[in-house]
Amino acid sequence: MTSSMTRSVHEFDRYGDVCLALADPFLVPVPADSGPPGSMAWLRATVARFSSDATHARRRALVEADLARLDPAALRRAVASGAADTPRRLVVRTLAEGLGLSAADEVADAVTIVAGAYFGDDAPEADAAVAWLLPRMLPAESADLAGSAALLDPGADRARTAEVTDARLEAAANRIGLLVQACDATGRLIEHARRPADRPSAVPSVEALLIETLRHDPPVRAMRRVATRDTCVTGVEITEGDLVILDIAAANRDPQVFANPRTFDPERTGPPPLTFGVRPRLCPGRDHALALAAGVLDRASADDIPATDDRDPAEAVTAMVGHVLALADTWTAWDGDPFPIDDRIYTPHKAIRRVADHLLDHLAELEARVAGEKTQPDRWHASAITTKADLAPFTRDDLDEAHSRLTRLAGIWANRLGALTAEQLDCSPGDGWTFRQIAFHLAESAYYADAIGDLTPTEDGHTS
Ligand code: HEM
Repeated sequence: MTSSMTRSVHEFDRYGDVCLALADPFLVPVPADSGPPGSMAWLRATVARFSSDATHARRRALVEADLARLDPAALRRAVASGAADTPRRLVVRTLAEGLGLSAADEVADAVTIVAGAYFGDDAPEADAAVAWLLPRMLPAESADLAGSAALLDPGADRARTAEVTDARLEAAANRIGLLVQACDATGRLIEHARRPADRPSAVPSVEALLIETLRHDPPVRAMRRVATRDTCVTGVEITEGDLVILDIAAANRDPQVFANPRTFDPERTGPPPLTFGVRPRLCPGRDHALALAAGVLDRASADDIPATDDRDPAEAVTAMVGHVLALADTWTAWDGDPFPIDDRIYTPHKAIRRVADHLLDHLAELEARVAGEKTQPDRWHASAITTKADLAPFTRDDLDEAHSRLTRLAGIWANRLGALTAEQLDCSPGDGWTFRQIAFHLAESAYYADAIGDLTPTEDGHTS
């Protein structure tokens, strides 16, 4: 515990203590100062999340009414089958569509911005996003966009703006709050559940995987409370005005409650993690969160599904090879220092190797599927290794060979894709991505060459 002249800060990290503190009616979320309707400050001051007592109950009822319209099983199906997107945007878009909101994509953009600033400092772009969302979130009977937009205009006709009552504003704020609460926490849960290091090869069910992820690697790691009057938690005296920090991540690894707490074990039984909080503020969206996360994990690794566009798929592959070779033309100037990108290193030879092997690998897959045969098991070391040959100088001769090799591979792909029917491209035989998706995925091989970049020497003798 640390003290200051005005108030003390108490921290709890044991499971039982955190439960007691969360359930204490005199420990409430730190209230937010309000601002003009449509601002970030207004949003925080008007949502259930930062409210207390009767106001909290009233606002929570608004959220629960919206959530009651959303069937978790239907959300899971919808998120599993919708267009590919990032986990956060998938979550928000699916909820927005479920609530019958129009422009779900733009709503997802705005909510993602607001979520990034919800617990932090004010940011002008977050204010703009709240202002954009507000008129679109007003309950159905007042979905009068013209009238509500006027509300945000200081010179607006007062008679018209009066149409947007406080009750309607409160409902709109809590609908935004619902989407914002869902966005980051569920997005992070999905990301954490996908981390291979944490994930045993076999799990009993996706639900068990998610619950253990919520415990072991919680998307919400701590909560803050302020005392509205003197109270006591497991013998610790807390004075009115004191701050209380609840370390959820530590409580979820309390050795008195969870055996081998550091071990990720989806088979474990016992009390639930505290990541969804406890009554009276237990997350009202927990069933929806689990369904949405399960739905995203149901997708064939949703984020990895390559985005396709109107381009001819053969053109997407040949353009990629053209881009790679144009960069490779500058690599004879390479000084021999590998390029670290993410957690890997790249060299000119390695980039050419990866592009060629990638083209070859998917070609083998495509041909096997067209022939109705099984695809070969994946034994590539790919970018994980750097061979001695990868580190060799990249000579004029190497460049010539790369031109011949990649140009021929691109030619085979172009011929192959050109000979496929539209049906074969989009309803492709065998398991896995469609052939169109594979072609657009191959187009992403430009990544390897971009890792090296343009090594044209500059005037001072350095490479650009
Ligand atoms: C993994 C995902 C999620 C986690 C870990 C999570 C966690 C939490 C927690 C801990 C609280 C209580 C905060 C407190 O006591 O101070 C909370 C509140 C809330 N959550 Fe969630 N949540 C998640 C997803 C969702 C989703 C998907 C929705 C909506 C669809 C949602 C809506 C809300 C709302 C509206 C509140 C405020 C409730 C109140 O103040 O009474 N959450 N959430």
